[in-house]
Amino acid sequence: MTGNNRQPEVNIGLVGHVDHGKTTLVQALSGEWTDQHSEEMKRGISIRLGYADATFRRCPGMDEPECYTVDEECDNGEQSERVRTVSFVDAPGHETLMATMLSGASMMDGAVLIIAANEPVPQAQTAEHLMALDIIGIENIVIAQNKVDLVDGQRARDNYEEIQEFVAGTVAEDAPVVPISAQQEVNMDLLMQAIEEAIPTPERDPDADARMQVARSFDINRPGTTFENLMGGVLGGSLVEGRLEKGDDLELRPGRRIEEGGQAEYHEIRTSVRSLQAGGNIVDEVGPGGLLGVGTGLDPSLTKGDALAGQVAGPPGSLPPTWDSFTMEVELLDRLVGGEDIEEISTGEPLMLTVGTSTTVGAVTSARDDEAEVNLKRPVCAEEGAKIAINRRVGTRWRLIGVGTLTG
Ligand code: GTP
Repeated sequence: MTGNNRQPEVNIGLVGHVDHGKTTLVQALSGEWTDQHSEEMKRGISIRLGYADATFRRCPGMDEPECYTVDEECDNGEQSERVRTVSFVDAPGHETLMATMLSGASMMDGAVLIIAANEPVPQAQTAEHLMALDIIGIENIVIAQNKVDLVDGQRARDNYEEIQEFVAGTVAEDAPVVPISAQQEVNMDLLMQAIEEAIPTPERDPDADARMQVARSFDINRPGTTFENLMGGVLGGSLVEGRLEKGDDLELRPGRRIEEGGQAEYHEIRTSVRSLQAGGNIVDEVGPGGLLGVGTGLDPSLTKGDALAGQVAGPPGSLPPTWDSFTMEVELLDRLVGGEDIEEISTGEPLMLTVGTSTTVGAVTSARDDEAEVNLKRPVCAEEGAKIAINRRVGTRWRLIGVGTLTG
């Protein structure tokens, strides 16, 4: 079976403050898998990638928004029709996981910002996540005003005003605000309608060379698996463009670190696609969009514990260059979330840089007005023009201070 008709076609980030209800919302929207596979690979990837797929459906003969559902059977007894399958990328709300949120953001085609109605707006990570969306340029946003079951009508309206004030002048200024209760499954239809309208599936070129952003990598073998039964290393991530088929040759960059004569260098890795998983199915071929898992011929010790997260994969010879150092044009924010001013970047300071799904630390070797040169601890594979999220160490944690553009 191919199962291609259920491949998710768009990645939607779920962002917002800790405990505002991201996980509960995903559960409410993703429902049950319709066809269960017991394959180790499917289980491994969907659990470990921090994502869930949801299929939005419409009931024929019903008005909007009531026609939107995730169930196959409609309230009027009819069978619902599939609209599209989306992958929700869960962005951890905890403050120390900002780097994870930023690398997830590089795969997001749009985002749902969840804001709990029973707390003052904005909470710290609500503000920081919105700033990250702004900086990375994720413009298609829906705001879910969650937990409305916990507040009265007046508080819900006041909270709505607070949200409008908070997003004024940001990328989410015109985003629809949908009051929901993820836990009580209230207004899920309205939320789905808003997502359908505000977060379209982007146009992608299926004929381009495959380009996969690797967000996770795993060894899916249980301890004690014998050599004949060992499965190759698995990559999890998203195809930005192109298609992948079982049997395709694959190159990964920057690849692996090899030390020779006291010098460390990164060498690209070559392998092939042994199996593919998308939309909960084992498939022979995948197109762009949505999250997927790729079983490879790699030694699983190479993919264990996210060792290859942040790499880029595609047909051999087609990938962008690997950079050990680069120059970037820099646009700094005026101030940090919380209000402190942001000082210019200075020569010698370390920065945490997120490029695609890769996060690396760079030492600034030269800083001019709106440009900085950095020497990277771990190289990245990226096109010229790639966007870079720039973080500076403030106190005990990395804080987002601006955006860069790789210029060479
Ligand atoms: P992190 O992943 O840790 O950032 O948290 P989260 O945003 O995923 O929050 P989660 O879904 O785990 O919800 C946190 C708590 O809020 C849980 O106890 C949920 O049951 C509760 N909760 C979520 N949505 C609602 C809602 O609509 N109404 C009420 N009353 N409680 C909710």
